[in-house]
Amino acid sequence: MAEQRKPARIYVTRPELPSLNEFIPYLQEIWDSKILTNGGPFHEKFEQKLCEYLGVKHIALFANATIGLVTALQALRITGEVITTPYSFVATAHSLLWNGIKPVFVDIDPETFNLDPDKIEAAITPQTTAIMPVHCYGHPCDVDGIRAIADTYGLKVIYDAAHAFGVRCHCGSVLTHGDLSVLSFHATKVFTTFEGGAIVCPDEKTRQRINYLKNFGFADEVTVVAPGINGKMSEFGAALGLLQLKGIDRALARRRAIDARYRAGLESVPGLRCPRPASETLANHAYFPILVQPGFPLSRDELYRKFRDHDIFARRYFYPLISDFPMYRGLPSAAHNNLPVARKLAEQVLCLPIYPDLPDDQVDRVVELLRGGGT
Ligand SMILES: Cc1ncc(COP(=O)(O)O)c(C=O)c1O
Repeated sequence: MAEQRKPARIYVTRPELPSLNEFIPYLQEIWDSKILTNGGPFHEKFEQKLCEYLGVKHIALFANATIGLVTALQALRITGEVITTPYSFVATAHSLLWNGIKPVFVDIDPETFNLDPDKIEAAITPQTTAIMPVHCYGHPCDVDGIRAIADTYGLKVIYDAAHAFGVRCHCGSVLTHGDLSVLSFHATKVFTTFEGGAIVCPDEKTRQRINYLKNFGFADEVTVVAPGINGKMSEFGAALGLLQLKGIDRALARRRAIDARYRAGLESVPGLRCPRPASETLANHAYFPILVQPGFPLSRDELYRKFRDHDIFARRYFYPLISDFPMYRGLPSAAHNNLPVARKLAEQVLCLPIYPDLPDDQVDRVVELLRGGGT
């Protein structure tokens, strides 16, 4: 009798990588030059090509987005209180605590999962110096609404754009909004350099200051102008990034196709809602969140476990809310009744597997499980 093959494990994401053969010549160059870091030739070229691809003018590469966020706050000398979202990866708020800044959580919009501009004003105090919104799942925030509030109250805006690689909104790259935007190239992101990140800056002067800060504060061999940190991207990461740019459009197109297949398959499943992309003119399909609502036969957590039984590793992004972690839950803004929308979505959301190598038959496996009410 033929042996029954167990279906493959499906993860929520898997990194897109070039073939190793393609990468070897890049490694050879690094080995030959023995330039491993500190703004080498790959670093320089990657910064330039990345600017061209993203449609922005000034970029400072980083070792990861978390150090990028910490440095962005330092660069703008942000202090006191910063308004941010509880519905994100914990690094968003951690970057504030690492700077001795108090996060003030404001609720999110039920359609976009992003900071609700209508609720920001009420959270502003004399100590507020900035807003740190997140383009959650790569869906653009209400950038105009946030800018209007920031301008009125004299606040800076630092976007956590960890999810927003390549996203375009009504006026071009979403990364040009705010005072600074921080990208992540972590292994789980649509574009990866293993670990990595970048700050998109408005001008060369700001980029220069950020470059000092990410290199211990060195302005030249003997001059230290700030208590900087080591946030530099290595030549290895930059070389991989350069190569990754060649495949990114194909990868995004495949993500788009998977997104469409899920939407078609899950249309009119009782109790399931697939939130529509917000206002992007070009989405990156970084995530495929669904909301498990009362009409569905299983609760969100039962469905999550059911998926696990079937070797499908869907993830509850973002649950728990950042504001529920021990270092934040004592803050007044973390109070239960202050964040009803974020709280409800965190209880209902499940992110389905989406990555370029995910074959159609595996997408269909996920869809069938959901169409069968999780059974
Ligand atoms: C919204 C958000 N902000 C920040 C980060 C931190 O990025 P990194 O892992 O590159 O430090 C992540 C994910 O890793 C994220 O999803």
